[in-house]
Amino acid sequence: MSANPHFGLTGLATMGANLARNVAHHDIPVAVHNRTTARMERFIDEHGSEGPLSGYATTEEWVRAVERPRVLMSMVQAGAATDAVIEEILPHLDRGDILIDGGNANFRDTQRRHATAAEQGIHFLGVGVSGGEEGALEGPSIMPGGDREPYDQSVRPIFETIAAQVDGTPCCTYVGPDGAGHYVKMVHNGIEYADMQLIAESYDLLRHGAGLEIPEIAARFEAWNSSELESFLIEISARVLSKTDASTGQPLVDVILDAAEQKGTGRWTAANALELGVPLTGITEAVFARMLSARKAEREHAAGVLVGPPPAAGPDAELADDLEQALYASKIVAYAQGFAQMAAAAEAEDWRIDLGAMATIWRGGCIIRARFLDRIREAYAQEPGLLNLMLADFFAQALRDAQEPWRRVVARASELGIPAPAFSSSLAYYDGYRRARGPASLIQGLRDLFGAHTYKRVDRPGTYHVMWGEDGREVEV
Ligand code: 6PG
Repeated sequence: MSANPHFGLTGLATMGANLARNVAHHDIPVAVHNRTTARMERFIDEHGSEGPLSGYATTEEWVRAVERPRVLMSMVQAGAATDAVIEEILPHLDRGDILIDGGNANFRDTQRRHATAAEQGIHFLGVGVSGGEEGALEGPSIMPGGDREPYDQSVRPIFETIAAQVDGTPCCTYVGPDGAGHYVKMVHNGIEYADMQLIAESYDLLRHGAGLEIPEIAARFEAWNSSELESFLIEISARVLSKTDASTGQPLVDVILDAAEQKGTGRWTAANALELGVPLTGITEAVFARMLSARKAEREHAAGVLVGPPPAAGPDAELADDLEQALYASKIVAYAQGFAQMAAAAEAEDWRIDLGAMATIWRGGCIIRARFLDRIREAYAQEPGLLNLMLADFFAQALRDAQEPWRRVVARASELGIPAPAFSSSLAYYDGYRRARGPASLIQGLRDLFGAHTYKRVDRPGTYHVMWGEDGREVEV
């Protein structure tokens, strides 16, 4: 690489700073900038000696310092802050330069920004970056979307170098045009929501259903991390559950307010699934569960008004043991739904997303990294047009093996009055999906009666309506 930077990064909050350091650690020169100059100066003071990092106070100086074609990356908050940064940078760019947004942008915003930049001859890349602070520094999973040629020529060598590597393969691959990279990152986050909700429900059931103490629950998670459930989120669940609060001596999990926050990606995933008509129950229940958790005062009031069944009578070893398989099966469903959503979006947006490649780049670096992503990769390698992950031999078998404990967990949760929306909705989806004939015929009949909405028949083509208010004759319409 030349001594002059080809790569510039603006936005030196934790993710941006660590990403810039990661690039510099690979001996790739990086020009850095921050809206508040003091933060840039502090960054250079603290990390300037770690690699070829140079800091610039103004946007103009920063842009000029980078060799053409420039690769400039913004790591600021999604939404208005990202628009402000882009507006600030664009006038200084030359045709052919590449502007990258590495934040958690809404893919519709990315499509709009891509179109605006294109009018000026600028290539805009919307790039999903996952892995939190540590991933950004040590190797994240990177999901780039936008114009392919400039990506391949100028950005790919940098991203593939700084990404996490699994079995010698970088956790980074071109996803598709305009908003595709941010779309896939959005679904990644949605799956992250579902994974975390299933973990929270498991913890709740282990504690209040199976009667385990917190250290025993931490030990369960640790044991699960040596099973097919092995994943970053299971691993850190054991760590969080093992943590004692310094000021009270209580388990940390008992002093943290039980009101989950969210920044939007999970909600966007669910809303987009509704738009596409894709049943995305696991992720959507996870979003709703966070919303219900956030209504703390309302729940506290309701706790004194609404009754449920008596609490568990004593320890329940069967429930504790069943949870491993129930968690695994529900997790398969959540991923199956997320992957089905990406397939539907790819078709709607004309993106051609390689689903097996997405599983491949999620094997390392990102928050949902997990052993079973290798199985997903294999499933798509065997059958690229796979309709639903649950239909792949490996997962169909896993669901078959898990179904008894899975059903017992959902039944037990309901008997005990412990909410398990992600577990139970996943099972309902599984049962609904595997049913060749369901009760929707009655819904169609009702729609026809009250609104003359018509229906189709199983035995012959055409559209039909019953003259409900007259002689009850069926007519073809
Ligand atoms: C990642 C994470 C990251 C962020 C989430 C948190 O992949 O590194 O997903 O992007 O931690 O967006 O989202 P919420 O605040 O909505 O839980």
